[in-house]
Amino acid sequence: MIDQSTVDRIYAAADIVEVVSDFVNLRKKGVNYQACCPFHEEKTPSFVVSPSKGVYKCFGCGKGGNAVSFVMEHENLGYVEALRFLGRKYGIEVEEREQTDEDRRRNDDRESMMVLSSWASDYFVETMNDTDEGINVGLGYFRERAFSEAVIKRFGLGYCPSQGSQFTEKALTSGFKEEFLIRTGLTIKRDNGTYYDRFSGRVMFPIHSISGRVIAFGGRTLRTDKKTAKYLNSPESEIYHKSNVLYGLFFAKKAITKEDCCILVEGYTDVLSLHQSGVENVVASSGTSLTVEQIRLISRFTKNITVIYDGDSAGIKASLRGIDMILREGLNVRVVPLPENEDPDSFARGKSSTELREYIRGHEQDFISFKTKLLSADVGSGDPIKRAAVISDIVDSLSVIPEAIPRNIFIRESSTLLGIDEALLVSEVSKRRRDKALSREETEFLRKREKNLPQTEFVPVANGTVVSGSGVETLEYELISYLLRYGMKTINFGTDDEPNEIKVAEAIIGEMKDDGIELQNSLYRNIYTEFVSLYDKMTDLAQEFPLGSLTGHPDPEICNTVVDVMMRTDLLKPSGLWERNEIAVENEEDRLHIAVPRAITLYKTKIIENMIKSLSDRLTELAEFNSEAEEILKQIDMLNQTRKHISEKFSRILL
Ligand code: CTP
Ligand code: MN
Repeated sequence: MIDQSTVDRIYAAADIVEVVSDFVNLRKKGVNYQACCPFHEEKTPSFVVSPSKGVYKCFGCGKGGNAVSFVMEHENLGYVEALRFLGRKYGIEVEEREQTDEDRRRNDDRESMMVLSSWASDYFVETMNDTDEGINVGLGYFRERAFSEAVIKRFGLGYCPSQGSQFTEKALTSGFKEEFLIRTGLTIKRDNGTYYDRFSGRVMFPIHSISGRVIAFGGRTLRTDKKTAKYLNSPESEIYHKSNVLYGLFFAKKAITKEDCCILVEGYTDVLSLHQSGVENVVASSGTSLTVEQIRLISRFTKNITVIYDGDSAGIKASLRGIDMILREGLNVRVVPLPENEDPDSFARGKSSTELREYIRGHEQDFISFKTKLLSADVGSGDPIKRAAVISDIVDSLSVIPEAIPRNIFIRESSTLLGIDEALLVSEVSKRRRDKALSREETEFLRKREKNLPQTEFVPVANGTVVSGSGVETLEYELISYLLRYGMKTINFGTDDEPNEIKVAEAIIGEMKDDGIELQNSLYRNIYTEFVSLYDKMTDLAQEFPLGSLTGHPDPEICNTVVDVMMRTDLLKPSGLWERNEIAVENEEDRLHIAVPRAITLYKTKIIENMIKSLSDRLTELAEFNSEAEEILKQIDMLNQTRKHISEKFSRILL
């Protein structure tokens, strides 16, 4: 579909850092970049982008790949669509045939719905600018509200004609299928089979995905009667999940990163007016009350949120609800109260960006001040019950802050503001936290700690056996990791008395050969075999291993796994193992000298255990104690001997 030279150009142009930065705020860390992973929820970054390798990798959830696969994964696109996406980004013309009905049918449903939404958005824009009704009614409305041409154009504002089903008819004759018109909610089909446009007679606000594609609409009625809902929004669909979308994020993300702050407002028009006044780091939770997913979306770009809601009581309530959610996600939240009867839209009108910024800076409050002031009547009333209620409310907010340092700073501030003993607040907050069982932070900490513990716990026990607790495949992955990462390094594979200085590769390959062991996982076996044949071909062992043959291997599974291994950060990291054995292991070499024999031992032990296990199973299946049983027992005994022998050898090396 797309010719190879275009594909090559796209691959060459698609800079992994640039591509990922469209979706996540990357921070430079050494030669790589880091961020919190966009594919799973986390508070400490384990998502790494390597510009030199052109790959990304999450050490938390394991996702990894190149720029194209990132776009596929993140945007839920197929390979070809991802290439088109990148082609658009880098201005590379992707040969596309005129879309026929046939093409439309072949594209998957999501893609069809997006294509339709984008077409509809264009249609609404044209209707507003090129038809009498559009100009008079739609454009007239936006002009009356003093939205600039630039804002109208940038946000793709439009108008849906009021003649019932005009839009739907046009879409159908343009080749779009009824099915997708209905599934996007643009069209509603009556029981009698006739159609009508959901947004008939409304001005249209297209809603964009984080990458700028139209996925839904908000439509505002121009009628003033109370019976019609002021705003209608697209229903939930395969391409539009309200709770995961923020209005304006696509247009705001650059400014959010630059200002390291995101302003959160309630409505479409609030976003537009602030933009028009030159404040662009602004998004709205339009159509839903703020959700955790929306906060996490913001947290990809900044940890600072400034909430500006209406000055009325509903607005304040919404702010209060939002505050605790934001705190719980570990973000910093500030609140800017507006004068009564103002919303950000009306307030921003006619103000310059300097005036607005100054107002925001001058009126920003942290949540403690905001709550305290809001409730100050109650605090100062001298009524102990009311006072206790306020304190309890603030303790609630304090106790959801996951990190200890900001939590304690805010505890101190509240103690000053409320005139309460700090120690008392501290104990109240920790009580509340305990009551709520484990906080998210702690749960995550425990999970992390568990994950980072060596997967294979071993305890040398009295009789010299090794108790191993992990699967064969994990151990095989460990082995090939050492092979690929440290294969050419030299370790002492003997004892101090009888040193045996050999290469890690030799040690591992030798041990495998000795026992005639083949790796069980076919992918790891392939990598192992490739490694051995490359190693055998090496004429000068002082040279570096030709890793490029593996990272550029024609089998993509091999490539990916080898890259995964090369990017592992946990290998030879200080861990419980070193402490438990109370060995002074200052440097990598020393750790390697222990880690490699350990990995071999654990692996062999595991294999023997599995053999013993299957023999024992067979034994229990036997109806009587016959000669086969005797044979099995003999084998089990031998295997036990071998196991003991292996662990003794390991202990010698270790000590
Ligand atoms: N909203 C909605 N459905 C409604 C009312 C409101 O989805 N029936 C959402 C819209 O996203 C709207 C936001 O809530 O932008 C805030 O509502 P409101 O303050 O009533 O609207 P404004 O944004 O002030 O709209 P306008 O200025 O056009 O009256
Ligand atoms: Mn308004």
